[in-house]
Amino acid sequence: MSQLRGDYKTVWNSLSGSKEDAYRHVSGYTDEDRFHLDGEDTVDILRETVGVRPDDVYLEIGCGVGRVGRVLSSFVKEWIGCDVSANMLRLAGRRLLGLPNIRLQEISGYDLHPIPDASVDVVYATVVFMHLEEWDRYNYVLEAMRVLKPGGRFYCDNVDLASPAGWAVFEESRSQFKPSQRPSQISKCSTKPEIEAYLTHAGFTDVRVAGRLDFWVYGWATKPMA
Ligand SMILES: C[S@@+](CC[C@H](N)C(=O)[O-])C[C@H]1O[C@@H](n2cnc3c(N)ncnc32)[C@H](O)[C@@H]1O
Repeated sequence: MSQLRGDYKTVWNSLSGSKEDAYRHVSGYTDEDRFHLDGEDTVDILRETVGVRPDDVYLEIGCGVGRVGRVLSSFVKEWIGCDVSANMLRLAGRRLLGLPNIRLQEISGYDLHPIPDASVDVVYATVVFMHLEEWDRYNYVLEAMRVLKPGGRFYCDNVDLASPAGWAVFEESRSQFKPSQRPSQISKCSTKPEIEAYLTHAGFTDVRVAGRLDFWVYGWATKPMA
């Protein structure tokens, strides 16, 4: 491991120096059509959990090259893509060129500054928590609580350690790399109780946690009205 996992800016800028590298580290492939289909799948999951409404201001934590934003922006008032990596955001800017209601924001890797308090209807993080330290996962849940309007909704996901396929990911990473050679961005799973604890401790209500495809754990919740 050459870089500290928690130095997200250095790690993720170095993984996205070219378009091909960025796409591979976002999704494992570089095919644009498949990217679009996968983006549609994620939007379907958001519809089923937090809902997608025409008046919503949506914010994504760790937006990458805008895989989801490209699809989602047609259905909402505004989509704000936040990412720690300036390289990812540059590529997202090119992919999303011409879309009238998107905004891209580089962030520190630990919070959502400079997004104002109570300014967003939905915050989500997809395929991101596995790359973060647990404390930083929770810091983003707290930040979501800050930037959401009262009644706003939050969604996050990760690979479920307790699922058969999630356990396979864990075992493969454990056996494949010596401790000193683990890649900085290596995926670390979550569990349902972990996600539930973050959402509950941050003060969300209507906390829901579910599994999907024997692989994912999803959590979603609502910011109280007062
Ligand atoms: C696997 S990609 C997923 C991108 C996007 N969410 C998607 O599903 O297409 C992970 C993204 O999270 C970003 N990222 C990693 N650590 C971050 C952090 N601490 N804060 C914000 N973004 C981060 C990376 O730069 C990268 O764009």
